[in-house]
Amino acid sequence: MTALREVGILGTGSYAPERVLSNHDLEKLVDTNDEWIVSRTGMRERRLVSEGQATSDLACESAKRAMEDAGVGAGDIDLVILATVTPDHLVPSTACILQARLGLVNASAFDINVACSGFVTGMNVAKSLIAAGAYNRVLVIGAETMSSILNYKDRGSCILFGDASGAAVLGPYAGQGKILDMHTGADGTGGMSMVVPAGGSRKPCTPEVVAADEHKLVMKGNEVYKFAVAKFKDLVVEQLARTGYKPSDIDLVIPHQVNLRIIESALSRLDIDPARIYINLDRYGNTSAGSVPLALDEARRAGRFQSGSLVSLVAFGAGLTWASSLIRW
Ligand code: UT7
Repeated sequence: MTALREVGILGTGSYAPERVLSNHDLEKLVDTNDEWIVSRTGMRERRLVSEGQATSDLACESAKRAMEDAGVGAGDIDLVILATVTPDHLVPSTACILQARLGLVNASAFDINVACSGFVTGMNVAKSLIAAGAYNRVLVIGAETMSSILNYKDRGSCILFGDASGAAVLGPYAGQGKILDMHTGADGTGGMSMVVPAGGSRKPCTPEVVAADEHKLVMKGNEVYKFAVAKFKDLVVEQLARTGYKPSDIDLVIPHQVNLRIIESALSRLDIDPARIYINLDRYGNTSAGSVPLALDEARRAGRFQSGSLVSLVAFGAGLTWASSLIRW
């Protein structure tokens, strides 16, 4: 049997649309206020697409930046994995739209729907395929236009999310970003805690469905809150147990940017210095599959980790799903 190859992150990129929606802007849409949103979530503003902009447009920008950073051309990519719950269309996949847009003529392409765990799950799938020798340059993207499924009459959910995208190019390890450990999981019994009830085969869209906003996200915030705190802690504890590292060995944790209280609550159960957690949810909110790769790219470009740093990615979301990855940068 051929030995498995080591896999690394060759480059990263991200893109958030220019339009800003602040907490004060939200005060004009729903019965909320800046003080409530900041104290309950840590969020101050988020980015939204402009008229006519869709998920593939965000994905395209972040992918171009990641490819440039990795020094790879369109012909070098042999697989595109795009994580999103807000595809341009139900069919075709947004990965195929991106493949055509970027001229990735040698690439297979597919979408995955794992919500906020999407990018890390995509990375883990890519890692396995590259390690096995099936692919050599995989473009992994997390991209969301959450504003397209938010109900801006529901103050319990619409304040949380924003639109953004992040990407990475993975390939055989070449001295940067070696993936040391990965894990993914799911618990479908919790699936109805975050759901878009209509627009799929269970309940196709009709004028009545749209009038009742059933094509928009419905969320049981408290259930998700408890799941997220527990899962965040478990993912880090299990990652350390599998790899033999101590909490103090981790240079930076890049968590899904879910809610500052959830992150702080999980941290209080872990022996990790809060200065070693990367947070940007104050500026972008929760961008679902876009969240971790946007934070990874931003943290890297800001010098929050360097060559040799141990970086932990943890994500969890609708499905319910979760994923983690440990990287020796
Ligand atoms: O990627 C995962 C995506 N999902 C999530 O991140 C959801 C995780 N859950 C959460 O982040 C929190 O549960 C929320 C931020 C959604 C809610 O925070 P909470 O501290 O759990 O508030 P709550 O739902 O217990 O509501 C407390 C009060 C309620 O009023 P009453 O019944 O006490 O009078 C709500 O109606 O706050 C009210 N409320 C708001 N008030 C002002 C709920 N949303 C708002 C709002 N502005 N936006």
